[in-house]
Amino acid sequence: MTQFKTLPDIPQLKDKAVLVRVDMNVPIQDGRITDTSRIDRIQPTLDYLINHGAKVVLVSHLGRPKGKADPELSLKIIADYLGVALSQAQAGDELDTAVAKLKPGQVMLLENLRFYPGEEANDPVLAKAMAKPFDIYVNDAFAVSHRAHMSVEAIAHQLPAYAGLLMEEELMALQQALTSPQHPLMAIVGGAKVSTKLQVLENLCQKVDTLVIGGAMANTFLLAQGYDVGASLVESELCETAQNILQQASCTILIPTDVTVADEVSATAKSIDKPVSEVCLPDMILDAGPETVAAIEEMLGVTKTVVINGPLGVFEIPPFDLGTVAILKTIARLTQAGHLVSVAGGGDTVAALKHAEVESDMTYISTAGGAFLEWLEGCKLPGVEALTS
Ligand code: 3PG
Repeated sequence: MTQFKTLPDIPQLKDKAVLVRVDMNVPIQDGRITDTSRIDRIQPTLDYLINHGAKVVLVSHLGRPKGKADPELSLKIIADYLGVALSQAQAGDELDTAVAKLKPGQVMLLENLRFYPGEEANDPVLAKAMAKPFDIYVNDAFAVSHRAHMSVEAIAHQLPAYAGLLMEEELMALQQALTSPQHPLMAIVGGAKVSTKLQVLENLCQKVDTLVIGGAMANTFLLAQGYDVGASLVESELCETAQNILQQASCTILIPTDVTVADEVSATAKSIDKPVSEVCLPDMILDAGPETVAAIEEMLGVTKTVVINGPLGVFEIPPFDLGTVAILKTIARLTQAGHLVSVAGGGDTVAALKHAEVESDMTYISTAGGAFLEWLEGCKLPGVEALTS
């Protein structure tokens, strides 16, 4: 798959002006970045370019300002965290002048690209103007590579384009997980709704040996099999779709055989484990039960690669975190013992890994949310395509 060029392929970096697309769309609360991992993970690319004497201009988006400047979504906070200057220069003379002033090894960050309508419109005229003062384009933003936006797609056709080190790492990990994995391959897909992950389930069914369906989306599959799901979250209109997936799948599908229920989603609610056949009103299914967890763990014992997207239960509210935590800890143990390659992605998944205190024990954690999901759906990602074409 490595048809894209990477940083070591750049013939000469010294004195070259390099435009680097990064994804620093980080969570900010009360004027504080609450998770800096997306910024921290571009550091190797930044160091590489600085150490090779490039003049570096970073570009990113933050939030969804929809083509208008919004002080709340300024990248100032990120520039301060990185210890670099934030420039308000816009594509054209202003940017040309600002880039011309940069010295080798210097880094500048431009203001939120989504303040300009041309960014989301993938405007080729803006791409041309933006590219003008640069020699090289580097895309290190896998997390936004599912968007055909100017700084992700159009610009890659204006300059010699390379994948950054994080982009390269993400693509290699994803390849190892789904394109050419070691079998048996398992995917664990959880979360609230089948509707948001329908294409993911359909695509994974073709690729994996075992598909574990957890979280509230499993309730729709239980209903499709004729079980009463009581007061659980369910998409009854998708029962037929769920039935089709179950009937047509060429892999083993694991859905819960027992569950943890309560009559409200609260830490003080009385929780009970029961077989799925005994669920009835006012039960709400809030986690996979111990028998289900044991079955998944047994399967994990003979699995070589696992892809994780989504929790098995309401892990944010103990005790409904038990199933998710047990499975993630087992994956962590098997990964650390060298028996398993584990690749995880998605906001909820990363939060669950942190909750289970195993985030450093996976083989790879993607920085992407939406892009990881689209990749699981089997979609071509415009930002990646632009690098390989
Ligand atoms: C993300 O956080 O998933 C990426 O930065 C993309 O953001 P978007 O969904 O606003 O395009």
